[in-house]
Amino acid sequence: MLQTLAVANYRSINNLVIPLGRLNLITGPNGSGKSNLYRALRLLAETAQGGVVNALAREGGLESTFWAGPASVSRRMRNGEVPIEASVRSGPVRLHLGFTAEDFGYAIALGLPTPSRSQFALDPQIKHEAIWSGPVYRPASLLVERNGPMVRAREGRAWDVLAQHTPEFDSLFDQVGSLRASPEVLHMREFIRRWRFYDHFRSDAEAPVRQPQLGTRTPVLHHDGRDLAAALQTIIEIGDAQALHAAISDAFPGARVNIDPLPGARFAIEFHQQGLLRPLSAAELSDGTLRYLLLIAALLTPRPPSLMVLNEPETSLHPDLLPALARLIIRVSQHCQVWVVSHARRLISALQQDPECNCIVLEKNFGQTEIVGQKALDQPAWHWPH
Ligand SMILES: Nc1ncnc2c1ncn2[C@@H]1O[C@H](COP(=O)(O)OP(=O)(O)O)[C@@H](O)[C@H]1O
Ligand SMILES: [Mg+2]
Repeated sequence: MLQTLAVANYRSINNLVIPLGRLNLITGPNGSGKSNLYRALRLLAETAQGGVVNALAREGGLESTFWAGPASVSRRMRNGEVPIEASVRSGPVRLHLGFTAEDFGYAIALGLPTPSRSQFALDPQIKHEAIWSGPVYRPASLLVERNGPMVRAREGRAWDVLAQHTPEFDSLFDQVGSLRASPEVLHMREFIRRWRFYDHFRSDAEAPVRQPQLGTRTPVLHHDGRDLAAALQTIIEIGDAQALHAAISDAFPGARVNIDPLPGARFAIEFHQQGLLRPLSAAELSDGTLRYLLLIAALLTPRPPSLMVLNEPETSLHPDLLPALARLIIRVSQHCQVWVVSHARRLISALQQDPECNCIVLEKNFGQTEIVGQKALDQPAWHWPH
C-alpha cells in the first residue's frame, strides 16, 4: 500500500507531501489542483511503463509543466508587504516525484534537456532515481541509485556499479533486464505496474461498449470500458457474482444484468429493469446507467490492482446513484487501496461515512496547491534523495 506521495515543481504543485490511507478522497474547488495531482500520480505510473519522458513531452515539455511561481512565498509576500518575486534557487530546476510504500520508497528527478545534444527538445532528461528501504529516505537506507548515466546498487558495505551508460530517456525500470543483481528494481516496477487508472469511459452513441463485443475472459476492464460484457461475465464466472448482483440492485432496485452469448462468440449486455417487458441492450441504456455498469465492472475486478484510481467517477451519473457508488467504493477499499478524485457533494459525503476515509481537501493559495489544514508538523516525513 502507498503511504506517502510527494510531488514538487509540477504545475500548481510547488511542494506537496500527502499521507495516504486505504481509501483516499481528493477533493477541492475548481482549479485547486486535483487534476494536477492526479496527473503527477499518472506520471509516476508511467515511469514503470517506460513512458514518463514521452508523457511529459506530450504535455508540452518540462518548461511548461514546472511550477510557474517562486520557489517559496515568504510571510511578507503573503501579507502583501512585498511583491511576489522569484527567490534564489539553490540548485538546477527539477521536477520531483516520489512515494513510499510499506517497506520501500522510490523517487525520480527530471530536468531540462541539453539543447545542443539532440533534436528532441521536449524530452526531459532523467537526472536521478533512487530506491530505498524503510518509510523515509536516509542515505544509509539507499538500495539503488541512478545518477545521470550511472546506476549503482548497495552490496553490503560497498557499492556495485550496475550500469555506466544508461540513456537519459530510460528510467531504471526500462533497464531492469540489463541490470544484474537488482531485485529491488524489478520488485518496484511490478508494484507500480499494478496501479490501475480509470478516468474516461466512452459511452457516446458510437462507443464500442454499446455494440456486442468478443467474448473472451476479461479480469481487467479496458480503460475505456469497451469490453464491459466480457468483464461482467468474467466476474459472474470467476469473481464475486453475488457482489455484482448486489451492486446492481443497490443502484437500480429490481434490476439485473445478464450476458447474452451471440453467434460468433460475441457477448451482448441485457439489462432487465422493473416495469419493462424486455431487457434493454447496451445501445439503449442511458449514459448514466452504462457508466454505472462500467464502474461496477472496474471495481469488482477479479484481479484487484495494488492501487485503484478513479478520476471524477461522478461524471454523467445521476446524483441519486452516488450513495450506492460510495458504498461500492468503500467495499472495494477493503481489498485494495483506492484513490478517488471527486467534486460531487453527495459522493464526498457518502464516502466520508467510512471512518477510514482519508479526505484530502486541496486549495490554491498564491497560485499554489496546498492541503487544507495541513500544518508543517502534520506533513509526513519526507526527504528527497537528491
Ligand atoms: N505550470 C503551472 N504553474 C502554476 N500553476 C499552474 C501551472 N499549470 C497549471 N496551473 C494551474 O493549475 C490549475 C488547474 O489545476 P487542476 O488540477 O486542473 O484543477 P482542478 O482541481 O479543477 O482539477 C489552474 O488554475 C492553473 O492555473
Ligand atoms: Mg480537474
